[in-house]
Amino acid sequence: MSESDLPVPSVPNARDAVRALRPSQIREVANAGFGVPDVLPFWFGESDRVSPAFIRDAASAALAAGATFYTHNLGIAPLRAALADYVSELHGPTSCDNVAVTSAGVNALMLAAQLVVGGGDRVVAVTPLWPNLVEIPKILGAHVETVALGYGEHGWQLDLEQLLAALTPDTKMLLVNSPNNPTGWVMSRDEQRAVLAHCRRHGIWIVADEVYERLYYGDAGIDADGAGSRTAPSFLDLAARDERVICVNSFSKAWLMTGWRLGWIVAPAALMDDLGKLVEYNTSCAPAFVQQAGIAAVQLGERFTQELVRDLKASRDHLVRALSAVPGVDLKTPPGAMYLFFSMPGASRSLELCKALVREVGLGVAPGSAFGPQGEGFVRWCYACDTARLDAGVERLQRFLAQHGAH
Ligand SMILES: Cc1ncc(COP(=O)(O)O)c(C=O)c1O
Repeated sequence: MSESDLPVPSVPNARDAVRALRPSQIREVANAGFGVPDVLPFWFGESDRVSPAFIRDAASAALAAGATFYTHNLGIAPLRAALADYVSELHGPTSCDNVAVTSAGVNALMLAAQLVVGGGDRVVAVTPLWPNLVEIPKILGAHVETVALGYGEHGWQLDLEQLLAALTPDTKMLLVNSPNNPTGWVMSRDEQRAVLAHCRRHGIWIVADEVYERLYYGDAGIDADGAGSRTAPSFLDLAARDERVICVNSFSKAWLMTGWRLGWIVAPAALMDDLGKLVEYNTSCAPAFVQQAGIAAVQLGERFTQELVRDLKASRDHLVRALSAVPGVDLKTPPGAMYLFFSMPGASRSLELCKALVREVGLGVAPGSAFGPQGEGFVRWCYACDTARLDAGVERLQRFLAQHGAH
């Protein structure tokens, strides 16, 4: 038999767990907008402003000085030390042995999941939620249960008893993202305390995605020290550094560095050798000159971050006022992150609605269903831009509703 007579193998496929991953519905809406001139994009989670000059300059200087080599898996020592100081100031004593540098938040989430979950493990996630958190454990063969936030008079709220009941003794990991993408919900200190005590009792890992911790407006009575606080309540305020708590953070949001791919993990020192192995087999390290720029961000960026939060709060309030005046729109002011997650006529089929919005009036918002079935009925609007652009978006929304006879 010659080689050409061999049977043709079946079509090559990825593993079942990978094939079952949900494609991004935000991307699906963006694709529907291809060819539409002058789309106003509020669908992605990033600002329309470039990273600050002092950070770009630090990267340029590092490149000019030849920072083009591999680094330690866990990050360069000065950045780990700078991060340990930054975290210590915000959340209490933290050693550089508790800090690892990652290639942004999404890589940190993958590393955290790889550290603690495997095939068949039970994971619980609080939803609606940015899809990556729910999909990442599935890549590893874990089974993800969700506990939905409820929407009511006071905005998005957690049913604590429901969450504690879902955290059964055989649960391996809890995934909680606060401030939350997409809802802007912020977990209160008391809720964190109760969840931490419960997880301690049952040996459940908490993976806390706190990438929006600085985008916290402290004006919703979340906790006693809320007003004027520089961060949202964090599990790091309550947990010892050597217990089953892994906090994921990023340079993307507080310093507008989405394209740089730089983040960090705070975790027990006992995990670091194994975490270093995982970093080696994923990315080996974050780019050296990007890490140098990270030092500038954490050491010199406090004023920048505080001004950013002030601007975001003004944008949030502006959009809340403008959208609240649109008949049929229902929203509550969210205490954190950079999104409004609201209901409007047609949102019960949010994917179709968002495709129609971009096709017909060039308004780019994300469908609530992209954040899990619990997000259906809502749309997400990222308000990290100037108010003139927000006004132009609201005007398009009104035009769309008028065309569809909604008012
Ligand atoms: C909840 C949440 N976690 C993590 C990330 C990861 O961001 P990055 O990978 O840019 O750090 C995002 C990005 O939008 C997010 O919304």
